This record gives sequence, C-alpha cells and structure tokens, in this order.
Amino acid sequence: MNTAATGQDALAQIAAAEDLDSVERLRVAFLGKQGSISGLLKTLGAMSPEERQSVGPQIHALRESVTTALAERKAALESAALEARLAAETVDLTLPAPEAPRGTVHPVSQVMDELAEIFADLGFAVATGPEIEDDWHNFTALNMPESHPARAMHDTFYFPDASPAGGKMLLRTHTSPVQIRSMLQHGAPLRIIAPGRVYRSDSDATHTPMFHQVEGIVIDKGIHLGHLKWTLETFLKAFFERDDIVLRLRPSYFPFTEPSVEVDVGFALVSGPDGKSRRVLGGSGDAPGHGWMELLGSGMVNRKVIEFGGLDPNEWQGFAFGIGVDRLAMLKYGMDDLRAFFDGDQRWLAHYGFSALDVPTLSGGVGTPA
Ligand code: PHE
Repeated sequence: MNTAATGQDALAQIAAAEDLDSVERLRVAFLGKQGSISGLLKTLGAMSPEERQSVGPQIHALRESVTTALAERKAALESAALEARLAAETVDLTLPAPEAPRGTVHPVSQVMDELAEIFADLGFAVATGPEIEDDWHNFTALNMPESHPARAMHDTFYFPDASPAGGKMLLRTHTSPVQIRSMLQHGAPLRIIAPGRVYRSDSDATHTPMFHQVEGIVIDKGIHLGHLKWTLETFLKAFFERDDIVLRLRPSYFPFTEPSVEVDVGFALVSGPDGKSRRVLGGSGDAPGHGWMELLGSGMVNRKVIEFGGLDPNEWQGFAFGIGVDRLAMLKYGMDDLRAFFDGDQRWLAHYGFSALDVPTLSGGVGTPA
C-alpha cells in the first residue's frame, strides 16, 4: 500500500472541498468508522510486529495530516463565510432611521403656553407660587376670615405640621395667593399671570381633587373695571381665535375683590354629525339658540388685599381674575371628561396632545393642533 499516494489524493480532495458539507463528507469518508484511513489503522492489528513497526508510523502520519488538513479547510471555509456575511450585511446609512416613539405636549401644558404667549403680548409676566401654602397667604391675606366655609376641613387638604410662622400648612385651593406673593415681592406697578396646580377636596365627572388655574393681577394707578373687561375680552378673543366672543359681567362676591364680577361668555348650541349638540363659543348668549356659560371669577382687588400686599390702596388700584385652565382646554379642544386629563392614558394623550415642536405663537396661531 502506498500511503504517500493515498495521502496526496486525500489532501487534494480536501483542498478542493468547496463547502462545509463537502468537508464533513470527506471526514466521514477518511476518518469515520467505515472510513478508508480508519480501515488502514485496523489492518495494523493483523500485522507482524516488524511489519507494524515499519508501516504503523506511515499510517499514523497519514491520519495526522488528513485530520489537520480537514480542520484547516473547515476553518478557512468558515471564515470565508463570515467575511461574505459581513460584506453583505453592512449598514446602509442612507436608509431612513426607524421612527422613535414620540411624546406629545399635554393639553394643559399647551394651554398654559398659549396663555403665557397671549398675556406676554399684553405686557404680563409669568409668576409662580408654592403648591404647599400657609393659610395666611391662601386665606387670611385674601380677606377670608376664620369662619369662611372654604377653610373647612372637608374642603381643603391640610398638613399635620404648622408653618415656621405658626400657621397651618395646606395644598393651595386657588392661585390667588400668588397675588399676595407678587405684590410683596415686586411691589407696584404689577402685571402678572400665575398658572399652576390647585387642590380641593372634590371628586366627580367635572371636579378632580387637583386641577389647574391661571390667576391674573394688575396693580397700577387709576385702574378700573373697564380695564378688566377689555383685558378679558382681548384675551378670550385671542385664545379662542374668534372675534365674536361676547362677555356678560354679573355682580358676584369674592372676599378678595370689591366689586366682584362673574364673567359669562355667550355660546351657540350646534348639533354635530353624531347628533349630539355642542356648545360653540361666540355670539351673544341672548340670541335665539344661544346661552351664557359661566367662565371665570374676577373683580377689583379689595383694598384690604392691597394692604396685605404691602401697598397703599389710596395710591394703587387693580383688578384680578382666576380661570380654570382645564376648563379652557375642554372648551377650546372639545374634550368632555375632565378626569381623562389626569389618567395618563397614552391613547388619550396621542389624540389630544400637541407636538413639542409646534410652539404656540400669536403670529402662527396660538392653538394650531398637532
Ligand atoms: N380664586 C377664585 C376661585 O378660585 C377666582 C378669582 C380670582 C376670583 C381672582 C376673583 C379674583 O374661585
């Protein structure tokens, strides 16, 4: 037997194998149980010791070189396959990127941005105050006496600990304490709005324990109700993007304004395609098919409140107003359940939310929906 010729033939076949399957078939053919080289090894047992001594090393060397050649060919084919895969799978940077999940601006934030934009144009700055207030700022300085019903335990969320000054601490029930804080901090003249969260012990379809208000206050010389009416009318026309907004001022009572006026706005009942009728703001509430809806509280700032703000009421006058921000959002964008505002349901947010890139501006339209 010519092991050298057998070896050469085997190595040539291995070198010619073009894929991993062929290499495996050759391995079985040479080294498998029935393989040709395995067969040669078996013949050693039947040989005389002298013969075995001369042929044995040749057969072992043959097996060795075939085993090595098979392993090398296998590795070469594997790395070629990997190279080919890498070449085929390069990332095409010119492909459009997969769309990243995009959040939306909550309607309450959107409306607050719209308010800031509209009032900035009227010369108002934006002020803030703490949501955890003391009862002096929330009630006393706003001329609400100890006996006022809004101070009752069941209406307001109190904290067990007293303020450093000794007063009770509570979650503010309105944004009006910012009137006091702004007067004390900035003095007069003053022109601010103060949007933010407020809290009341209330919960049903139209009331949530937390909701949003925007306060407005102007303190200057010679300020009168006409300024209040013009400011509210100008603001509401800009906010609802309608020139036909009609206001009705009704005498009312708030301890911190004197006189106090409740402001109603005219609407039309318009039936939609679903057969349900909707209130659409605009026009006089006295026109046929129209009505008035209560929108906000306001009035001339009470002399006592101006004094609590550290100013002389003989020198300075002003007006103030407070509106529900959630209410404004519902009226403008047509949601009908207040509670959905605070559920955090992604589907609601995707439907009613606004694009973060679509910043409200007076020139671009403060209310352009996403
Ligand atoms: N703070 C009042 C409320 O929460 C609203 C208001 C503000 C009324 C300013 C008059 C002036 O109902």
